[in-house]
Amino acid sequence: MQEQLTAIVTSVCNTAPTIQTRAEFEAYKATISGPRGTLTDLMKCMGRIPKQDKPAMGKRINEAKEAVQAAFDEVIKRLDAAELAARLGPAIDPTLPCPDLDRGTLHPISQVREEIVMLFRRLGFAVAEATEVETEHYCFDALNIPSDHPARDMQDSYYLPAGLNVRNVGKHADESYLLRTHTSTVQIRTMLKASPPIRIVAPGRCFRRDTPDATHSANFHQIEGLYVDREVTLLDLKTTLDHFVKILFGSKARTRLRPSFFPFTEPSFEMDFFSPDLGKLSNQWLEIMGCGMVDPEVFKAVGIDPDAYTGYAFGMGIERIAMILQGVDDIRYYYQNDIRFLKQFA
Ligand code: PHE
Repeated sequence: MQEQLTAIVTSVCNTAPTIQTRAEFEAYKATISGPRGTLTDLMKCMGRIPKQDKPAMGKRINEAKEAVQAAFDEVIKRLDAAELAARLGPAIDPTLPCPDLDRGTLHPISQVREEIVMLFRRLGFAVAEATEVETEHYCFDALNIPSDHPARDMQDSYYLPAGLNVRNVGKHADESYLLRTHTSTVQIRTMLKASPPIRIVAPGRCFRRDTPDATHSANFHQIEGLYVDREVTLLDLKTTLDHFVKILFGSKARTRLRPSFFPFTEPSFEMDFFSPDLGKLSNQWLEIMGCGMVDPEVFKAVGIDPDAYTGYAFGMGIERIAMILQGVDDIRYYYQNDIRFLKQFA
């Protein structure tokens, strides 16, 4: 019996490494440890062994079973590894250069946005954000925009279907959602959350119903600025904008404030600048933003005491500034994703 055991173990140890497939393995395993396998048959003979030899024989049988099991485990491990390797395909050489050498870069609009935001951050402005879906209250009412203002017309702004529920933007039952038409909404949301002093810039996407042409797009980007504190004056606004323009358009750039009107600032201005270092656009006044002193009505809408605090606000289109800085004469280039265009600003 001992010899038979040794013969089985030797045979298994010799055969196991030659097995190539799972089917082959299962068939072979059955001949050894299956119901009619050689090892199983041998174990059945245990009953016939004299009592005194049983413990020693039992031990040998166990050793033989372990040796066979170890050989079988080895086969399974080898077959598993082979299957995985087949699925993974040929080994890769990590030292080869990458076949795709083109690296993405920031979009030209993002580049200009970053530049402007960084400039204001250095002046102590924090960055604020709010949602692109807004309610009429935040987009218009709180900003003192009257109900007969054209922006409130369905034809000029994108309203969302009635009955829609935007979970993270609370709304009164009698008002509608719309896509924000300007980033001035962030002024309101910020003033409701924080108390003065407040100094923020808010970059973001805005939407207006416009027929696309060289200077209009239904989707565009703005950067809003807001500074609220005790005794903020027009001089603070003017000096900040002077600095902004000099950093962005050259140290010889000058600004000019032209009286204008916005419902949420009083007085209101259009800010123009003039630079001798702008290539084709040199030496002419270019309009780049709306601005003014925060209207007391806006302070009242957000619960800030207009007798104690003053503030200034400004809002500019990022595309407009990008076009001037990058010498682009059609806004539509920015949205066409033509790599030949985008690459020039990488
Ligand atoms: N929200 C105005 C616009 O979109 C710009 C603006 C912002 C004007 C802040 C004054 C103050 O045209």
